[in-house]
Amino acid sequence: PVRPVLPPDITSRKGGVPLVVLTAYTTPMARLVDAHCDIALVGDSVGMVLHGMPSTIGVTLEMMILHGRAVVRGLQKAMPVIDMPFGSYEEGPAQAYRNAARLMAETGAPAVKLEGGQHMAETIAFLTARGVPVMAHVGLTPQAVNTLGGYKVVGRDAEAERVMADARACEAAGAFSIVLEKVPVGLSARITGELSIPTIGIGAGVDCDGQVLVIDDMLGMFTAFKPKFVKRYAELGAAADQAIADYAAEVRARAFPGPEHGFADQVKS
Ligand code: KIV
Ligand code: NA
Repeated sequence: PVRPVLPPDITSRKGGVPLVVLTAYTTPMARLVDAHCDIALVGDSVGMVLHGMPSTIGVTLEMMILHGRAVVRGLQKAMPVIDMPFGSYEEGPAQAYRNAARLMAETGAPAVKLEGGQHMAETIAFLTARGVPVMAHVGLTPQAVNTLGGYKVVGRDAEAERVMADARACEAAGAFSIVLEKVPVGLSARITGELSIPTIGIGAGVDCDGQVLVIDDMLGMFTAFKPKFVKRYAELGAAADQAIADYAAEVRARAFPGPEHGFADQVKS
């Protein structure tokens, strides 16, 4: 069946109540996100957050399909969007279409996201014209960490006009929305004002048409590092650490399991 929220519904939210977006990688997290968010993004951040990879470069299409299927199973109303991983779309429109079609057909998600501005415009147009809605992603594009030289702010000073041109190119190519990552606040407000598609910010200030965070970051589950733009709304990592420490101590003291966790030898009559 057709999903309750599709990319054109997201586009029409431009300028209204901000779009609420979180990443999700598993069915239980997708259920929690579904209750409160407009979009559940199956980000390639899954490689770093759940698989311990040093960057998103090693994430594969198979990983995105597996996590994408898990997330789609957990959603009833929020719209899933799946990241195209590094190496699955950059060669050109035909390669991008082949792999985007697999992501959509094998997960049920109605849209994909890919990183890139002007140099990806031809690919975005090719996909969009053939039934693949595309969320674009400009500013800091983590799959380009090795050419960018780190996870730095993108779009300060003279670089601002290039990011603006990237955003405009994505819109002109037909992207239904666009992520702005680690873009300075003034520039991100300017892009939001100029584009007619929603901007979804991460580290891009409050003026975007929506916000996205990595769920494990905002829950305090992923603590290897904390970007400045992350706000922790919970400390689940610390809570889990305490729970595991309590369990270990109780097992060592034979305090767990208790009688209430065991099974009687005779069935009571
Ligand atoms: O992979 C991801 O989680 C993302 C969002 C942070 C935008 O691309
Ligand atoms: Na991503």
